[in-house]
Amino acid sequence: MRKEAPSPSASTATANKLYVFFETKPLVATLLALTLVFLVWNLPPYYQNLLSTTRPCSAPITTTTTTITTVTSLNNNTVITASVGNVSYSVAEQKLSKPPVVAVDPNKRVFRSYGNAAALFVQMGAYRGGPRTFAVVGLASKPIHVFGRPWYKCEWISNNGSSTRAKAYKMLPDWGYGRVYTVVVVNCTFAENPNSDNTGGKLMINAYYSENPRKFEKFTALEEAPGVYNESKYQPPYQYEYLYCGSSLYGNLSASRMREWMAYHAWFFGPSSHFVFHDAGGVSPEVRAVLEPWIRAGRATLQDIRDQAAFDGYYYNQFLVVNDCLHRHRHAANWTFFFDVDEYIYLPAGNTLESVLHEFSDYTQFTIEQNPMSSMLCLNDSTQNYPRQWGFEKLLFKESRTGIRRDRKYAIQASKAFATGVHMSENVIGKTLHKTETKIRYYHYHSSITVHEELCREFLPESAKNNVSWYKKLPYVYDDNMKKLVNTIKEFEHQTIGDVAVYEHS
Ligand SMILES: *[C@@H]1O[C@H](CO)[C@@H](O)[C@H](O)[C@H]1NC(C)=O
Ligand SMILES: *[C@@H]1O[C@H](CO)[C@@H](O)[C@H](O)[C@H]1NC(C)=O
Ligand SMILES: *[C@@H]1O[C@H](CO)[C@@H](O)[C@H](O)[C@H]1NC(C)=O
Ligand SMILES: *[C@@H]1O[C@H](CO)[C@@H](O)[C@H](O)[C@H]1NC(C)=O
Ligand SMILES: *[C@@H]1O[C@H](CO)[C@@H](O)[C@H](O)[C@H]1NC(C)=O
Ligand SMILES: *[C@@H]1O[C@H](CO)[C@@H](O)[C@H](O)[C@H]1NC(C)=O
Ligand SMILES: *[C@@H]1O[C@H](CO)[C@@H](O)[C@H](O)[C@H]1NC(C)=O
Ligand SMILES: *[C@@H]1O[C@H](CO)[C@@H](O)[C@H](O)[C@H]1NC(C)=O
Ligand SMILES: *[C@@H]1O[C@H](CO)[C@@H](O)[C@H](O)[C@H]1NC(C)=O
Repeated sequence: MRKEAPSPSASTATANKLYVFFETKPLVATLLALTLVFLVWNLPPYYQNLLSTTRPCSAPITTTTTTITTVTSLNNNTVITASVGNVSYSVAEQKLSKPPVVAVDPNKRVFRSYGNAAALFVQMGAYRGGPRTFAVVGLASKPIHVFGRPWYKCEWISNNGSSTRAKAYKMLPDWGYGRVYTVVVVNCTFAENPNSDNTGGKLMINAYYSENPRKFEKFTALEEAPGVYNESKYQPPYQYEYLYCGSSLYGNLSASRMREWMAYHAWFFGPSSHFVFHDAGGVSPEVRAVLEPWIRAGRATLQDIRDQAAFDGYYYNQFLVVNDCLHRHRHAANWTFFFDVDEYIYLPAGNTLESVLHEFSDYTQFTIEQNPMSSMLCLNDSTQNYPRQWGFEKLLFKESRTGIRRDRKYAIQASKAFATGVHMSENVIGKTLHKTETKIRYYHYHSSITVHEELCREFLPESAKNNVSWYKKLPYVYDDNMKKLVNTIKEFEHQTIGDVAVYEHS
């Protein structure tokens, strides 16, 4: 819980006194600084959280001696930064408003709070999204958004000394899914490029607790170094044609399935594509080993997001992750795809990815229908050596009910999107196309990705090839479209990254 602020005069006075004291008594200051460092290390978690949220904006100071370097007053909290060697520590001292007073009125009740439940804002990323627009992606306490009206303000502080304000608006892309935390995308759009002279500067955010404009936290969301702004980065042509934004990887993932997925999609999307994965604990050494050759080849990036576990959001914070990926790579590719690692994009006969996307180019977004595949049914065929086969080579039974609603996946022209979801984006300019099933689909091998034993666990007779088969009251039909591609993919994998050894029992 945030406590009420103390009177500014008291804390500033203390700060000034401390400052003078440290300047005039170097030896004592040294001792005090060491004590301070010791204190920082031994603070209970509550104060550690305070430290990380109220760190002053100044960069860590690098000196070789032990000194108290800064004492600043920020939002009425006193922040003391000390550095030992090149490492700096800060302590935010948040004064309790009043010392406990002896109750004059016996009916006056006191409310004591312990600990803190959810931060006002947790920043994951902040990105420039064009010449005059930025996005800050993060989490915010859900109750504050349900019961209060938190809002944001953006300000650019140029290295040339000038400052410009911008309107901020927030989007809540996982509203209805959020838990302790909900995802917030803050859009800051300035009247013109705040760094047009390219002297660099920083984007500051004021995050308010409620409608009260006096209760807020201020932080630096992004810094742009002098000379780095390059207008051409925000216009086509982009670096890639296709970008894959994966959501949080968690659970005990099968390295074999990851290897197959990566080889298939590297082939499917072609050389002008890139894959971004997010490891929320699902990337074991075996999984990392199968991704490593693709990372080395520049085809994939693996982000370590395991620290997200400290913030309770929807399913390993997947909404946060896809929004971060959207904005981080907003101008990296013509089209950005959002789907999972147990899903395989497929083009029904006669289509090429280029021709399909050319046809869809008037749309900002299109959704993709799934072919739901069984993750355990195989054909009872003694000529097949199943343990040696790839997942999509042997899982050939498609659940064939029609007319029921199933999840869809999607792709967008990211430069026209402002925030995104897991099944589609609701915040885009332009049209969305849903009628795509004859042009592009995806095969979904639900829950096959965490199976480590042999996938073929139930067998259907040879006759199931030409007939509807019922298994657990669901109808299945044979579909070997993916199997027909497997030799091409294996050959492609071999030519691209050489021999692959998968260290795993399966
Ligand atoms: C700091 O305290 C003063 C006096 O209590 C108050 O007027 C001011 O709004 C406070 N500032 C912040 C940022 O809380
Ligand atoms: C501090 O300096 C040492 C050696 O000079 C260096 O290895 C280390 O990375 C530095 N640490 C930080 C936080 O800059
Ligand atoms: C500082 O930079 C901004 C934008 O880059 C520009 O509009 C402004 O005139 C500059 N101010 C000074 C004092 O140079
Ligand atoms: C800006 O980026 C483009 C393309 O990435 C590059 O060709 C150009 O040299 C860059 N301009 C500057 C001033 O760095
Ligand atoms: C991507 O955009 C470039 C330039 O805008 C265009 O030439 C190219 O055909 C596009 N590719 C796809 C697959 O849409
Ligand atoms: C993951 O599954 C494999 C194979 O079943 C097993 O050997 C391993 O212990 C599991 N790892 C974890 C972290 O559960
Ligand atoms: C598979 O077929 C063989 C004969 O072709 C039969 O003996 C066996 O029982 C069948 N297995 C299953 C699991 O249906
Ligand atoms: C912010 O919103 C405006 C429209 O209101 C849009 O033009 C701009 O692209 C958005 N910026 C980002 C980074 O999403
Ligand atoms: C298909 O199933 C029907 C009834 O279940 C059966 O009569 C027919 O012989 C089967 N056809 C083939 C080719 O197995």
